[in-house]
Amino acid sequence: MASSTDVPTIKLNNGLVMPQIGLGVWEAKAGEEVEQAISQALKAGYRLIDTAKAYGNEESVGKAIRESGIPREEIFLTTKLWNADHGFDNAKKAYKASLERLGLDYVDLYLIHWPVPAQAKYVETWLALEELYEEGLVRAIGVSNFKPTHLEALTAGGAEVVPAVNQIELHPHMQQIETRGYCAKNDIQVESYSPLKRGGDVLEDTTINELAEHYGKTPAQIVLRWHIQEGMVVIPKSVTPERIESNIDVFDFALNDDDMDRIRLMDQNDRNLPDPDEMDAM
Ligand SMILES: NC(=O)c1ccc[n+]([C@@H]2O[C@H](COP(=O)([O-])OP(=O)(O)OC[C@H]3O[C@@H](n4cnc5c(N)ncnc54)[C@H](OP(=O)(O)O)[C@@H]3O)[C@@H](O)[C@H]2O)c1
Repeated sequence: MASSTDVPTIKLNNGLVMPQIGLGVWEAKAGEEVEQAISQALKAGYRLIDTAKAYGNEESVGKAIRESGIPREEIFLTTKLWNADHGFDNAKKAYKASLERLGLDYVDLYLIHWPVPAQAKYVETWLALEELYEEGLVRAIGVSNFKPTHLEALTAGGAEVVPAVNQIELHPHMQQIETRGYCAKNDIQVESYSPLKRGGDVLEDTTINELAEHYGKTPAQIVLRWHIQEGMVVIPKSVTPERIESNIDVFDFALNDDDMDRIRLMDQNDRNLPDPDEMDAM
């Protein structure tokens, strides 16, 4: 079993240190399901948890963290501002409401969940996050589902803080080369969501299964190891005990350069979730 000390960390552009693998909890049901998943994950060595207002489980996530017996400062918690909460004042209120639901004093990383360009409010929303950050109420701020054009608009709109993280859909079928290049140039850490393509056809792929056989690992472990070696932070979701354990158990082997290249060749620009330019407010 992996321990928290096996997990590499990444230093964000403001100096904050983030574990390179964590547990995602989208569609983990509030109450017992998500509480057990988090408790199990913390025992298996996870120290990064990724939630959002929209997942409807912040209360349970906070409870599981508070009751874990692990000092709060050893856990890196991310939550996100939902589309209906864009706007300067709304954003500040939304952060405080998330803290209340979580029952915690701070969040490590607060993300704008989607830019929702149709609302045209993501720049003022970002400026509100900057204030929360400058007041010391959150340790780092970032974005999610932002393309380079949205990131450029922040700068053009007077942003002074460069997002620490951009959390985007990223897996072997959707490798996000352009956004990753922009983020690398601008010192923004990329975080892969739906890293297993939601447990879908990536795990059935012949190349991935040949590599799994060759390295004596599961298809999911091959895919997660690829994310790690590409330098992404990765947040696989599972509520299944054996998967929670095996998904973090990826630090005792390495894919060689040829095998990394074989996975790079799988890119087909195939996303599960909407194109961020088409995501409407909900
Ligand atoms: N910012 C955003 O807009 C955004 C969007 C989507 C996701 N996210 C974040 O990213 C996290 C991960 O993404 P995701 O939940 O979309 O998808 P994912 O992590 O790629 O896949 C999760 C699915 O795969 C299954 N699974 C997990 N480990 C497995 C394994 N070892 N073998 C086979 N199947 C496995 C899970 O089932 P069980 O749970 O039943 O084990 C679940 O159905 C989310 O939970 C959320 O925190 C963010």
